[in-house]
Amino acid sequence: MASKKRILSGIQPSGQLHLGNYFGMMKPAIELQEQGEAFLFIADYHALTSLHDAGRLRQLARDVALDFLACGLDPAKTAFYRQSDVPEVTELTWLLSIICPMGLLERCHSYKDKLAKGLAASHGLFSYPVLMAADILAVQSDWVPVGRDQKQHVEVTRDIAQRFNHTFGDVFRLPEPVIRDDVALVPGLDGQKMSKSYGNTIELFGPLKATRQQVMRVVTDSKSLEEVKDPETCNVFALYRLLASPTQQADMAARYRAGGLGYGEVKKALWELMEAHFAPLRARRAALEADPDYVADVLAAGAQRARAAARETLDRARHAVGLD
Ligand code: ADP
Ligand code: TRP
Repeated sequence: MASKKRILSGIQPSGQLHLGNYFGMMKPAIELQEQGEAFLFIADYHALTSLHDAGRLRQLARDVALDFLACGLDPAKTAFYRQSDVPEVTELTWLLSIICPMGLLERCHSYKDKLAKGLAASHGLFSYPVLMAADILAVQSDWVPVGRDQKQHVEVTRDIAQRFNHTFGDVFRLPEPVIRDDVALVPGLDGQKMSKSYGNTIELFGPLKATRQQVMRVVTDSKSLEEVKDPETCNVFALYRLLASPTQQADMAARYRAGGLGYGEVKKALWELMEAHFAPLRARRAALEADPDYVADVLAAGAQRARAAARETLDRARHAVGLD
């Protein structure tokens, strides 16, 4: 029998999680836990490339843990851990750094984007994809569920793994990105990609009233109520589609095309779907928040599983380069 696929993804605790994170990465990653041996981690080493406030990092890492558990991550199926609890990853980063060509990193869009947004050009920010490669290769992951913006980093990981295998002998499995086309890019309030750094997000578990206001602020064109509208170019419909059943989507699309439908009404319908979906998760999150020991135990057990996998890989890599 073929061995179970290994699946790994991570998320930076660098801000409050939003609908883009949920549909682009959290939900697909959580669904994949049914299909193999899953690993999911809080990328706190990565967050340090942009966040230099210890108190805030602690708070955000705790929030991300609660968010994932509330959204259905099952710790019996998925090893859920903090990246910094698996120090093997940083040692592996070095063994990968020594064969990673500068040019590979220089081509990374995400580094250039971050500089353009005003982040300081540190060595950590530049070598970020090597740390990400170590996350993935340490557990010999086959599949990496991510949003489209992370695809290049998974390709860099494959490239690094191939070079290492070629130079030192076969150690690493080559991972593949898993990107859901239907949700690859969730638009934000302004129609650009929803992102913490653009200030255009709809938060998953923010205060209810503020979140409702965010939904009501999604930009639309200025067509009047009577006019015929195009669901395919509408940001509100793009969000509605993520939560609606196929029949609801078809009905709503038909109403756009018939005219007589106002954007306010679609936003209200979107909000109702959001509440139906997220209210039970919000309740679960509140219960988890009241039980910090449970969350700490989950993360400790997850780290133990991840460390066992990472140790095995690291020993093989150390042997391959001649460090044993
Ligand atoms: P942000 O842009 O808000 O800082 P991150 O870069 O931390 O988000 O992304 C975390 C994960 O969520 C990644 O896998 C990313 O691809 C996914 N993701 C983030 N925003 C979106 C979006 N608007 N649409 C789809 N996926 C997204
Ligand atoms: N770089 C990813 C992001 O910003 C987070 C991440 C770190 C990650 N290591 C990873 C994602 C390994 C997948 C696999 O979203």
